[in-house]
Amino acid sequence: MIFHIVTIFPELVRGVLSHSILKRAQESGAISVQVHELRAFTHDRHRVVDDAVYGGAPGMLMKAPPFFEAVDVIRAEVASRRGAEAAARLRVALLSPAGRTFTQRVAEELAREPELVLLCGHYEGVDARVEQALATDVISIGDYVMTGGELAALVVLDAVARLQPGTLHDPASAGDDSFTTGLLQEPQYTRPPEYRGMAVPAALLSGDHAAVARWRRREALLRTLRLRPDLLARVDLTAAERSLLKAMGWEGS
Ligand SMILES: C[S@@+](CC[C@H](N)C(=O)[O-])C[C@H]1O[C@@H](n2cnc3c(N)ncnc32)[C@H](O)[C@@H]1O
Repeated sequence: MIFHIVTIFPELVRGVLSHSILKRAQESGAISVQVHELRAFTHDRHRVVDDAVYGGAPGMLMKAPPFFEAVDVIRAEVASRRGAEAAARLRVALLSPAGRTFTQRVAEELAREPELVLLCGHYEGVDARVEQALATDVISIGDYVMTGGELAALVVLDAVARLQPGTLHDPASAGDDSFTTGLLQEPQYTRPPEYRGMAVPAALLSGDHAAVARWRRREALLRTLRLRPDLLARVDLTAAERSLLKAMGWEGS
């Protein structure tokens, strides 16, 4: 999958991309990331990307033209590589606190795209015409306001890249992640089997695969009930699981 990040801080983005799993994913070709410096799409000597807000609101706003021109160039490059239809279908996501909340479901949806453009705002945000006529998606990573879109874009990229074949050494490890199954993941342990009086649950040391699977499912259910009971409403539960949860205080049906 190819990611395009449009930003005024390319080095910030490259720094994160040059470590650990994301670095290896690029080296193996599972993902490729093109970082586009927004200032390259300005036409004045000082390469200005922001201006005062109309109507006298405080602060500075990022101008629309550099974003439109950056996406024009990206689309032209996509068209030359994969054809005009692919370029027309390109998903262009603006990072904004006003967007659709980013979840594992959204990550899974975006991971099916061959290519994704991420537009990073700054200052007071971005001229509304970018959202109106350029972005196909507006994505928020949560109900809080950050200083810029780079960290949000990297959050989206990381979660989507993780779902690409070849990014993880063991793709099965993503299959039982929190949210993927609809539940939080069960508690996990590694050596030593006992530490400061805390023993690893006996079922995990039993070598009995069926018993381990039962333990894991039960603990995932109970942990989800304790920490995120809202998730249970969307999970397919067996009658026995419903009874277990109800016995533990679940008020769902
Ligand atoms: C200070 S914020 C702008 C906030 C804007 N004035 C508002 O109230 O909605 C600057 C930039 O940071 C990014 N940003 C901040 N919080 C974000 C969030 N929760 N999710 C995604 N992007 C965010 C966006 O790209 C935004 O354009």
